Amino acid sequence: MSSPHILILGPPGAGKGTQSSRIAESFGVEHVTTGDALRANKDMDISDMDTEYDTPRAYMEAGDLVPDAVVNAIVEEALTSADGFVLDGYPRNMDQADELEDMTDLDVILSLSVGREELVDRLTGRRVCDDCGANFHVEFDQPEEAGVCDECGGELIQRDDDNEESVTNRLDVFDENTAPVIDHYRDHAGFVEIDGEQSPDGVWADIEAAIDEQV
Ligand code: AP5
Repeated sequence: MSSPHILILGPPGAGKGTQSSRIAESFGVEHVTTGDALRANKDMDISDMDTEYDTPRAYMEAGDLVPDAVVNAIVEEALTSADGFVLDGYPRNMDQADELEDMTDLDVILSLSVGREELVDRLTGRRVCDDCGANFHVEFDQPEEAGVCDECGGELIQRDDDNEESVTNRLDVFDENTAPVIDHYRDHAGFVEIDGEQSPDGVWADIEAAIDEQV
């Protein structure tokens, strides 16, 4: 079989980014992430798309969804050039799920489940490297030297949307828009629910086994 097409779903803070990096490395697929793509283009001019705000920044800092037209275009371009992929952060509503169905097929659909209280702790304590984007946590995944990235020596910062107010809104947006997407995929071939409350290594062991079984 050609390189697998993997979708990873879950609420904000479930560990999608953490586990997608491992999937990409281990299975030799591309990590396609709408969150990173949008963060790299926060100030791009989207006013010609008839949107409420002129850039993605305002949506993201509030924890709201960036308009579908912007995100669909990012994903379509990334998937066209990818052989195998792990898709992280998309689809986040049923219209995006319909778009994705027209773009590609999926071999494995992983759904990470984690309770709300744990998600708030993970997100408000997350620190990311300003240079290479590596993820850390002030309690669960501490760097060797406080404030310094183990991977590249860059500065660790807190994301603009990891404050308590944005996190609460992001979790509400997930419940309203993205939870129905997960329910939609439950009957799809290749759907596997993963207990995301285990240690990162425990989650990874389940994910690796699930992908090996499906592809
Ligand atoms: P995005 O960047 O996709 O954020 P998210 O979905 O909110 O997900 P996160 O990156 O916050 O969490 P994650 O699940 O990747 O967890 P992580 O591995 O980092 O999107 C940001 C914004 O962009 C959205 O709010 C929206 O505005 C916009 N956007 C993006 N896609 C869009 C779309 N399709 N449509 C419209 N708008 C879109 O882990 C979190 C923390 O927990 C880390 O500190 C990590 O070290 C720790 N951790 C991970 N696993 C474990 C574990 N097993 N145990 C303990 N700690 C753990």
